Amino acid sequence: YTEEDEVRTKYYTFYKELHQLYKSKLNQNQIAIEYLKKRGYDAREISLYEFGFSPVDSKFPQQVAQRLGLSKDELEKFGFSNSDPFAGRLIIPIADDFGRVIAFGGRLIGEGVPKYLNSQDTLVFKKSSTLFLFSFAKEYIKQVDYVIICEGYFDALAFHRAGIKNAVATLGTALTKSHIYKLKKLTPNIVLAFDSDSAGIKAALRSLEMLIPEGFNVAIAKFEQAKDADETYSKLGVEGLVKVLDNSIGAEQFVVESLAKQYDLSNPSGFNTFIKILRNWERLFSSNPKSLEKFYEHASTTAGVMKEELKNLLASQQLQN
Ligand code: CTP
Ligand code: MN
Ligand code: MN
Ligand code: MN
Ligand code: MN
Repeated sequence: YTEEDEVRTKYYTFYKELHQLYKSKLNQNQIAIEYLKKRGYDAREISLYEFGFSPVDSKFPQQVAQRLGLSKDELEKFGFSNSDPFAGRLIIPIADDFGRVIAFGGRLIGEGVPKYLNSQDTLVFKKSSTLFLFSFAKEYIKQVDYVIICEGYFDALAFHRAGIKNAVATLGTALTKSHIYKLKKLTPNIVLAFDSDSAGIKAALRSLEMLIPEGFNVAIAKFEQAKDADETYSKLGVEGLVKVLDNSIGAEQFVVESLAKQYDLSNPSGFNTFIKILRNWERLFSSNPKSLEKFYEHASTTAGVMKEELKNLLASQQLQN
């Protein structure tokens, strides 16, 4: 039993008690409850996902610190100074892989900036290796042998509410090596369910650059009737999300189609840039022969050339860095 274990134990107790206070305040705040109801959450779901609320005049972190006999220094190491950064926000608990609360996400109730505030990294919480809802999802991921990765808290929650419990979300950061390492132990199959806006498409391409060399089979969900998973579930229910998953496209097709939208292929310089960038993706996909073949199929069709000609065009390109 080392000193570090002792600090960690204190940390979990602190977060547990703070979370309790936030939870107890939620039921007393009609505006926060109304907000969740408007997003479609019923009482059972509100208590299941353990949302909370931090009042505008919250001194909760300081109160809990005092009760547990934490010094100012310790409180700071646990992520709080003399105010509550989450004051006035809806609290979304962020748990570690074993379900212990180690951080919070705070959403403004209504519009405003910044929309979300998240705990900073601490001795226990590392944003870059934490996946939201992972502790709920891990057994399901193993069972159905694939994981759905979302970009937002409410998107991962939407899948869970729909009974599709193999979904997780990154915490407002890109997918990292440690996320990937964690998922690799559970499944080689991934569906990326990022928002359908340009930020989401960029994030999907960046994620693929990391996932393909690691040997994952990746599909990309296609949101057509709503911009993200949360909106899909609100508008179209379980069937909406099931359809989004059914309409997922393979990584090869996604890469080719999204790049083709970025360049004007009817213009020689646009076409050349497209080919140059495809050359790098050819290298990424080449670790898997079947995948490489699919890539050639989609690329030649989209470029409007025969497959052999496409391969020649690619072969004439230098690799870009
Ligand atoms: N995010 C963040 N800080 C922000 C905006 C976003 O940390 N100021 C993170 C959050 O984890 C958020 C995710 O990025 O869940 C996705 O952002 P966005 O698509 O903008 O938000 P939504 O999840 O769609 O939020 P909502 O549905 O609540 O409007
Ligand atoms: Mn987004
Ligand atoms: Mn979104
Ligand atoms: Mn959303
Ligand atoms: Mn295909």
